[in-house]
Amino acid sequence: MSNCQEKQKCESQQGFPETLFRELDAFIETLPTKEGHLITVLHKAQSLFGYLPEEIQQYVADALNLPVVQVYGVISFYTFFTQIPKGKNPIAVCMGTACFVKGANKVVDALKQQLQVEIGEVTPDGVFSIDCLRCVGACALAPVVMVGEKVYANVTADQVKDIIADFS
Ligand code: FES
Repeated sequence: MSNCQEKQKCESQQGFPETLFRELDAFIETLPTKEGHLITVLHKAQSLFGYLPEEIQQYVADALNLPVVQVYGVISFYTFFTQIPKGKNPIAVCMGTACFVKGANKVVDALKQQLQVEIGEVTPDGVFSIDCLRCVGACALAPVVMVGEKVYANVTADQVKDIIADFS
């Protein structure tokens, strides 16, 4: 591990635990080569840290000997990656055409009202965040809401309270 990486760990501006950096290092060590694995490493980093702020982008760039602008470029291109922190239970509402015409916007409004946060924000207790997605490929189930890995189908605004209660 480079001095640079060690230094960043000690000075983690976001307060990320050092164990997470070690876990990421260990994952990178398992790769046959550092080349061509940027997306794989970013997936791992996001699963560990929850999101990919500048600090993590720089860390990954150093670890893979890449310019940070390349790391940023990949994160910006793929909607899966996020530079914004998410709640412990990230709520994602599909706003694709099928979901939209079946009332996804009303579901979003109900979520915003219930949780008192806007799209892209995290609740003050860190439990929930709200995001909108493009079509998630389950149009027959529209409107679709995902909370973490759990998928809710044919969601109405009236069901929002019950969905939130599942995770409270
Ligand atoms: S538009 Fe929502 S799943 Fe396709």
